[in-house]
Amino acid sequence: MCGIVGYVGTEAPQGIILEGLKKLEYRGYDSAGIAVVDNGELKVRKHVGAIVNLERMIGDEKLGGHVGIGHTRWATHGAPSDINSHPHLSADGKVALVHNGLVENYTEIKQRLLEEGFSFRSETDSEVAAVLVGKYYAEGLELVEALGRAVSEMEGTFALAAVAYDRPDEFVAFRRNAPLIVGKGRGCNFVASDFSALLKYTKDVHLLENDDLVLLRPDSVTIWDKDRKKVTRETLHISWDVNAAEKGDYEHFMLKEIYEQPQGIMETLRRNLTDDGRVDIYDMKLTPEHFAQFNKVCIVACGTAYHAGLVGRYILEKIVKLPVEVDIASEFRYRDPFVDEKTLFIAISQSGETADTLEALREAKKKGAYVLSIVNVVGSTVARESDDVFYTWAGPEIAVASTKAYTTQLLCLYLLALYFADLRGTIDADHYREMVDALVAVPKQMEEVLEMRPAIEKLAKKLYDRDQVFFIGRGIDSSVAYEGSLKLKEISYINSFAIAAGELKHGTIALMEPKTIVIALATQDRLFDKMVSNIQEVKARNAQIISIAKEGNTKIEEHSDVTFYIPQCIDEVTPLLSVIPLQLYAYYVAKEKHCEIDRPRNLAKSVTVE
Ligand code: F6R
Repeated sequence: MCGIVGYVGTEAPQGIILEGLKKLEYRGYDSAGIAVVDNGELKVRKHVGAIVNLERMIGDEKLGGHVGIGHTRWATHGAPSDINSHPHLSADGKVALVHNGLVENYTEIKQRLLEEGFSFRSETDSEVAAVLVGKYYAEGLELVEALGRAVSEMEGTFALAAVAYDRPDEFVAFRRNAPLIVGKGRGCNFVASDFSALLKYTKDVHLLENDDLVLLRPDSVTIWDKDRKKVTRETLHISWDVNAAEKGDYEHFMLKEIYEQPQGIMETLRRNLTDDGRVDIYDMKLTPEHFAQFNKVCIVACGTAYHAGLVGRYILEKIVKLPVEVDIASEFRYRDPFVDEKTLFIAISQSGETADTLEALREAKKKGAYVLSIVNVVGSTVARESDDVFYTWAGPEIAVASTKAYTTQLLCLYLLALYFADLRGTIDADHYREMVDALVAVPKQMEEVLEMRPAIEKLAKKLYDRDQVFFIGRGIDSSVAYEGSLKLKEISYINSFAIAAGELKHGTIALMEPKTIVIALATQDRLFDKMVSNIQEVKARNAQIISIAKEGNTKIEEHSDVTFYIPQCIDEVTPLLSVIPLQLYAYYVAKEKHCEIDRPRNLAKSVTVE
């Protein structure tokens, strides 16, 4: 959801900012822009479309200067266009500003400014912020004071950065419930919406708190808190490798990330499993005594992370033997959920910045719940606002469609379930051992599943033009079906639909026609025969069946057009393996349809507006 980069130092900002924006392009890609201060002049260049369009427009021009800000946009107010792109200028053209998030009261502020004689070029809330900052700057405030004054009148969630034509060595920034970090370089300083933009230049970052106001100069970063008291903020050293945010030899980030899943699982296991096979969750603050007080678990997340939560419910209920609710974050707040101090609230989020998840988390905290989050981005807002954090060690996930974050989220839920079951004494030693062994075997088994890639590619080439695809499964497989369907629709734009297989005959089966593709997950030994019956029901309507089963369950072939086998494993852990063919299928169908795989239309990686 929009990406911001700002730089001040000894070098020309142009290359650094454009490079940083490319790393953030997954956050938004309908337009991009840059502003630098060069010799008393604000040079603003912006263009609709991806960053390459902006680069083409700039061509060989050297923008000069030592300070600049840049932006990649995901439209909220106003269609993607050159005029709506950032940076926006103040009315007198002396201040340029970039913005991520929403200024909720922008219409009132705009009206007031119009009455004062200011005019606007765009339809955006962002320009209103630029004009407001510019107004206070023109009235004689320091740039940082002007920004501080403007944000004191603005409501909503946003991150901002601004430069002024006559400030060649400084820029200012602000964050309120939207991501923004400060990078500390040598003789230079940065802001960015996330680490990936800065990895090439620095791995030392300050995490800003809400309502922090920042003044950045080449040799100093000054931060004021919400009461405008000078403060210092924690410095975090990021361990992510620079190459982790590069595509390398892969055609797309999504394919690279699908292939990084064994590594993500290994890394998360390594950090949370002792040598003798006990789950020991790194840095967990929750004590056994506290845990003993919970009488229910409530899991909340969005999209793919929600689908991970659905799997989590099966596992937690099965082995921890506590009631578990799973909710879509945007629904949770509005149904007055029954949550209190006896609730363990689990928020799942790759980015740790998803607005709906954050708001749900805050609601749960207000009601007294203990909040434990499963998050990929270290230091993100969800992580910081939680009582406990369990990090997924997937590394940076750049493709909009989530893959490796999902499987590491699943792993965290398995490990949590084992940890809690052990505390509650609801799992016997053999079952504990069996689950741990099954999880340890997963990375190697994932490698085996990845070898299906050529066969899946071939199948996708044959079937890519079908406009209706169903995903069905029973039990834990139905949760994976939801994830498979989401992957396919978001990157290939095919109308796909997931449903618990037993529910088909209660209505949805009416949609089955010859040529409808049904992807049937049949990995659960306990439910295998029932699933075969459901497959027969759709087969009888001449649908084409692609099934996913465990090695050895060859009976399924009689009822399927194509079958993919995952290695033998216990029923509980199949989602870690069965999702991979679905990810690859979505990928190759989208590729065959020439879709923008890493940046699907209308989507952004990090959804920081409600
Ligand atoms: C789908 C996808 C989204 C995210 C969702 C939550 O592939 O990536 O559905 O899972 O927007 O995002 P996070 O996990 O960052 O909270």
